[in-house]
Amino acid sequence: MATLSLETLHYDVVIIGAGGAGLRAAVAAAEQRSKVAVLSKSLLGKAHTVMAEGGIAAALGNLDPYDSWDTHFYDTMVSGHFINNYQMVEIYTKEAPARIFELENWGAVFDRTEDGKILQRPFGAHSFRRLAHVGDRTGKELIRTLQYKVLSLDVDIFQEVTSTRLFVDDEGRIAGVFAYRRDDGQPLVFRAKSLILATGGWGRMYRVTSNSWESTGDGCALALWLGAEVQDMEMIQFHPTGMVWPPGVRGILVTEGVRGEGGLLFNSENERFMLRYDPVRQELSSRDVVSRSIFKEVALGRGSPHGGAWLDIRHRGAQYVKQKLPGMYDQFLKLADVDITRERFEVGPTVHYTMGGIRVQAATGATNIEGLYAAGETAAGLHGANRLGGNSLGDLLVFGRRAGMAAAEYAKARAKWPQLAKNQIEAERKRIVQPFTIESGTNPFMVQETLQALMTAHVGIMRSKQSLTTAMEQFQALRADVERMAASGPIHFNPGWNTIFDVQSLIILAESVIQGAIAREESRGAQWRVDFPEELADLGRVNFVQRLSPGKGLSIEARPIPAMPESLARLFRASAAPGVLRAREEQRHLAKEE
Ligand code: FUM
Repeated sequence: MATLSLETLHYDVVIIGAGGAGLRAAVAAAEQRSKVAVLSKSLLGKAHTVMAEGGIAAALGNLDPYDSWDTHFYDTMVSGHFINNYQMVEIYTKEAPARIFELENWGAVFDRTEDGKILQRPFGAHSFRRLAHVGDRTGKELIRTLQYKVLSLDVDIFQEVTSTRLFVDDEGRIAGVFAYRRDDGQPLVFRAKSLILATGGWGRMYRVTSNSWESTGDGCALALWLGAEVQDMEMIQFHPTGMVWPPGVRGILVTEGVRGEGGLLFNSENERFMLRYDPVRQELSSRDVVSRSIFKEVALGRGSPHGGAWLDIRHRGAQYVKQKLPGMYDQFLKLADVDITRERFEVGPTVHYTMGGIRVQAATGATNIEGLYAAGETAAGLHGANRLGGNSLGDLLVFGRRAGMAAAEYAKARAKWPQLAKNQIEAERKRIVQPFTIESGTNPFMVQETLQALMTAHVGIMRSKQSLTTAMEQFQALRADVERMAASGPIHFNPGWNTIFDVQSLIILAESVIQGAIAREESRGAQWRVDFPEELADLGRVNFVQRLSPGKGLSIEARPIPAMPESLARLFRASAAPGVLRAREEQRHLAKEE
């Protein structure tokens, strides 16, 4: 194969990822007059962000005037089972309303109340109607709006570019990234004064997921390889409602908006089983609880025909359903030949979100590597052990902006272009084409499938020491196959070759998920250990932090979570949290009405 000459580009701020966090960061950095590049391995506008369909959570109080940032704070901490970074939660809940109004100013077309305010819908485990939404296409509208905003600024977008390695200078500060163009294999080096990772999550390590092919956690893997710390990797969110039938569409998201608009869940005996599992919040319980409940009903032989539960929205009437949930109506009609205004439909848990990720500073998204930042699903902290629906889109806006501003500021203060070691670049250039030289190697698609099978079977909703030990053993056996992944044919648009880099990312992240799940010997949020069914107070005060060291592999330690200051801790005492008390009262009232 002919060696392609290297192209080197210079940017103040390089952002890897073009989902909501990456685009919001690009806006913030460009507004500070930084020279900004966004690298996307996919196409602009096609990010997993579009799969947060039901809305953006912010305490606007448009329908429920008692809502406030502190009630949103309370809900988020309770849902995250208190291992959240409370500083991030405070920042988020206070700033989310401003980010929504800003998005509205930039042209996002939100649904409206009769008197013209932004309409908000109920969602699981939110005490009030809190999700600003655009039908059931909120993520899409968010991306559309940010895309237009970015295009109006001086930002260079590199589409279909895979990033394979980050570099630091002699002093350990970020220096750049090695990448290649997927269409022709052209290697690229971006020298960068600062860099933001915003590549989303890693749901593609599971067989049944709402995530699209891009969600292989590239940013988190790049950070780990560079020596950055990650945390809470064991926390994988199963959204309760993905499609389960027909097989070709299994896992595709069925928005929580369906339950937000009144959809009810039934088992095969026509029982509204959520009344048993959570009599107060019922179908709008938190995602970990609803997913586990469906899982248990299926395990007890009370599942729907294809291993899920029935979801029913018919009682809201055809016109209402088509108006509020047009995407769901189309999706089921086209993909499953089911008219959801006339028939109930099957749903079941699907891997949707990764709460763990790169450990960052709350205010800036700074990692432990100087000049390296992370935002959105790639970063950890905001959601703790279980994310509230709607808190992901807000996360992207709040922390994408903050990371963009901090990275731009850091770049400004750095006068010289960072030095890049030539030998490192050369080594990476050789490494990426090495799969073409392997004869009788392994097929990357098969390796990914094997990984998905083992994660699905042994590191799913329900875990135990036995299942996790089996997962680790099978994982170790897979290592040899990973080392020998081979590519053939021309380098141009070569799907097998491209998949090798996706799998390399997934492999290191899968190991950290399994290691984290073994270490956390308790049940908390998304981590359900049947051998440790209780939540343990001691483990509620730690994050599990991991890091990769050359020659030593992945290490893990329990890192204490700082205690909340009194101004926040008081929110959890009955005497001093008016919004929270009100929320509890509302919940009791709702339960009685039912
Ligand atoms: O169900 C949904 O619409 C997903 C929203 C989210 O993940 O925030």
